Amino acid sequence: MTGTKDQNSSLPLPPGSMGIPFLGETISFVLQGRLFTSSRRQSYGNVFKTHILGRPTVRVIGSENVRKILMGEHSLVTCQWPASAKMILGENALAMLSTGSIHTSRRKAVLKAFNYEALSSYVRPTQQIIHECIMKWPERDRILGYHECQGMTFEVAGKVLLGFNFDKQETTDLTKTFKRLQNNLFSLPVNYPGSGLNKGLEARKILMEAIEKIITKRKEDIANGSHTEHVDALSLLIQKNVDEDEDEVTMDQLKDSALELLFAGHETTASAASSILLHLFKHPKVIDRVAIEMNKYKILNNDTTELTYETINKMTYLNNVVKEILRLSPPIGGGFRRAVKTFELNGYQVPKDWTIMYSIRDTQDTSQVFQNVDEFDPGRWNDLDLTTNQSDRFSYIPFGGGTRACIGKEFAKLLLKVFILELVGNCTWKIPNPNPRMKSFPVPYPVDKLPIEFSKKE
Ligand code: HEM
Repeated sequence: MTGTKDQNSSLPLPPGSMGIPFLGETISFVLQGRLFTSSRRQSYGNVFKTHILGRPTVRVIGSENVRKILMGEHSLVTCQWPASAKMILGENALAMLSTGSIHTSRRKAVLKAFNYEALSSYVRPTQQIIHECIMKWPERDRILGYHECQGMTFEVAGKVLLGFNFDKQETTDLTKTFKRLQNNLFSLPVNYPGSGLNKGLEARKILMEAIEKIITKRKEDIANGSHTEHVDALSLLIQKNVDEDEDEVTMDQLKDSALELLFAGHETTASAASSILLHLFKHPKVIDRVAIEMNKYKILNNDTTELTYETINKMTYLNNVVKEILRLSPPIGGGFRRAVKTFELNGYQVPKDWTIMYSIRDTQDTSQVFQNVDEFDPGRWNDLDLTTNQSDRFSYIPFGGGTRACIGKEFAKLLLKVFILELVGNCTWKIPNPNPRMKSFPVPYPVDKLPIEFSKKE
């Protein structure tokens, strides 16, 4: 029941603590990661108040509560990331656009880069980059798995989506700059030398210069008809305004979109890829099952020409493995919204203009629909149908939901599936510390960066 404004204003605020003046609970939020929510959830329940990143905030957990938020876009909530994220990622980024019609039309334009045809054309270059990366791992005694996954997914997102053509050193420098941007995305909104926001904005400036050069070159190539490599997402975004009679997408819009695709597409998939290394190592039977399915579809080791998007989509066990990774180790912990009016949630008042942070990780971890919730069991997805019951649907939300669901989810799944096929087809690996301490901010990662010993499969 949503109720009228006056009724809702008389409801109690959710329980919780607003912390100390100005800082609120920001420091605990940034430092404690997962513990921040789990400890408060235990004390206050699925809906609690806090004060983080300069804003009064309601944290929302549980499928039914999350459903109300995700399906309440525009009527109850609108998108609002913290001010620092908006300044660092740019106001034209899809996730930052809060106006319904502008968001819808920009989203439609970007979706073109993730339709079936586009995804099919990304398979080959994605596989080539992943293959080259992982075949180098056995040459070293030990690699840091998480670092390597970050490098690999940055290369895939940079080359496949944006057509980057940088050398190794430039790519390493850009990856480091990106890390700085990412680490400072959620900062207090104060810009002075050395502040988190300041570091994030400087990283943005460097990346934007690199991206502008690429866009200018790509526009020239398209105009001359000389761009011969595979079609990347950026070309599709540029071409939209060449082919169709509509407002020209400005350079600023293109730059923000490119930065957003790189941001959204690289650290999330790196986190999931390192979870794959961990979970598969701990479950050799799952590796065997994947190998059986590869045999069934005649996917050969060391062969980067055969794999098609159609075949990948037929592989149900592989699909289950990726689903299970994203259930147990979702790369994004949740999302931000702003209440456009005062409304009721779980018997409490959510006041107009407060920030709402819906939780993916805690919602999946506490959902009743998963038996043995902590167990890694891809087979569970054979019998699980979350589509019949409306609120069950929101028990599994690694890519969010509603009108702001992840736009790159099919590409992310494609990348992760190709990674698994390449790993299982070509390598064996040993993880000396298979239960590393995890940090969950900004994405889950092992604190020891996951040392691994790789060997080539005979
Ligand atoms: C939005 C998760 C990969 C692009 C989202 C949201 C989630 C998410 C949960 C919604 C956030 C919200 O409700 O505010 C993930 C996960 C990924 C992944 C878990 C990898 C495993 C990607 C990739 C791309 C991408 C590969 C593009 C290359 C985006 C964009 C949005 C978004 C542009 C904003 C959509 C909008 O506001 O309309 N993602 N994502 N993501 N994602 Fe992803």
